[in-house]
Amino acid sequence: MESIGATALRQTTFLSPLPSPPLPSNDVSSLSHFSPFLFSSRKHSAALSLKLQKQLRIGDNNVRATNWAKCSATLSDTSSETSTLADIDWDNLGFGFLPTDYMYVMKCARGESFSGGELRRYGNIEMSPAAGILNYGQGLFEGLKAYRTQDGNIVLFRPNENALRMRTGAERMCMAAPTVEQFLEAVKETVLANERWIPPTGKGSLYVRPLLMGSGSVLGIAPAPEYTFLIYASPVGNYFKEGLAPINLVIETDFHRASPGGTGGVKTIGNYAAVLKAHTAAKAKGYSDVLYLDCVHKKYLEEVSSCNVFVVKDNVITTPAIKGTILPGITRKSIIDIARSLGFEVVEQLVSVDELLSADEVFCTGTAVVVSPVGSITHMDKRTSFGDGKVGRVAQQLYTELTRLQMGIAEDKMDWLVKLK
Ligand SMILES: Cc1ncc(COP(=O)(O)O)c(C=O)c1O
Repeated sequence: MESIGATALRQTTFLSPLPSPPLPSNDVSSLSHFSPFLFSSRKHSAALSLKLQKQLRIGDNNVRATNWAKCSATLSDTSSETSTLADIDWDNLGFGFLPTDYMYVMKCARGESFSGGELRRYGNIEMSPAAGILNYGQGLFEGLKAYRTQDGNIVLFRPNENALRMRTGAERMCMAAPTVEQFLEAVKETVLANERWIPPTGKGSLYVRPLLMGSGSVLGIAPAPEYTFLIYASPVGNYFKEGLAPINLVIETDFHRASPGGTGGVKTIGNYAAVLKAHTAAKAKGYSDVLYLDCVHKKYLEEVSSCNVFVVKDNVITTPAIKGTILPGITRKSIIDIARSLGFEVVEQLVSVDELLSADEVFCTGTAVVVSPVGSITHMDKRTSFGDGKVGRVAQQLYTELTRLQMGIAEDKMDWLVKLK
């Protein structure tokens, strides 16, 4: 029997002059050594077993760096591949990385404009060891979701907001950025090329991850001379294993996520590396995530590692105001509008730990977490519980409104959905 890798190699056009790596054997255990796109070949991808898919949930450091990602993909490849739903266990999607078929790549030199973007087979990329992103963290990312609606459409939720946020971040990080139109077009192409990885309605979504990287070489500290815009995608289910069940947060008092004048308000990669220590320690103690405080007074709420926070007291919903240290979440902005449309008073202002701990209800919002009720908050070893382990009334109402809209069940009165099909 011919190995999957061998077949895929023959279907692939290599652009790089580097020698090809050895062919994999038929042994399934060897498959994880090869670039993930190899398993997405037309002939074999639809038949990939769940066992194999699980093996493919591997960190990039387990994948041998190859030049194989430099293969070209055409739209005719794409259309023949997207018709069948991928063969994975759609009922048990978590928030782990699962490689899909295609990624989008576009480059530009510093001071010039992006052009010539194209879909390529998903795979590893080559980069100079002196690249700005590797040495000086000159990088941004975005995160948005594509949903399959009940009536068979594929929709994106407010993708223009992600495009604008990436442009704001790029300005802060001295990077070239794609235009809003280029961003939207690239997202659409990536989603449609990976259509078979969009979960059935109600089972999850296709998480779309645009990256902007200083890919040119620099030695002294300076903006990179070249930028790469890349989009990949992965099917996802719930971010927290709890799903809509309440999560348990711990307030971090030693480490801070951001500082005034810093980069907390943009989605730059370093913000996430900076929270890993606190996040890992909290997880090890059984908490779902960390709630950060402002670094000046050390008493006002900022946000959670990857989501914004809201408190509810006597029918008034309050969330920390955006003043440069907090990421302006698109879900946050949407929830504020939805809550106001439902008659709630929503206030954006400083929220102290005392106000938080005396709230009736607390919840978090974000693309990944959607609306996530908070069941307890631990501060200085003292645990305060909310809602007797049940989902709060306001969080439930807002979750329902938002997800009905995203899945095309409720009328899109705010014109937030972009239909791709
Ligand atoms: C630090 C941080 N805060 C908040 C959010 C929520 O933002 P959004 O609702 O746009 O996903 C995210 C996720 O992107 C985040 O990483």
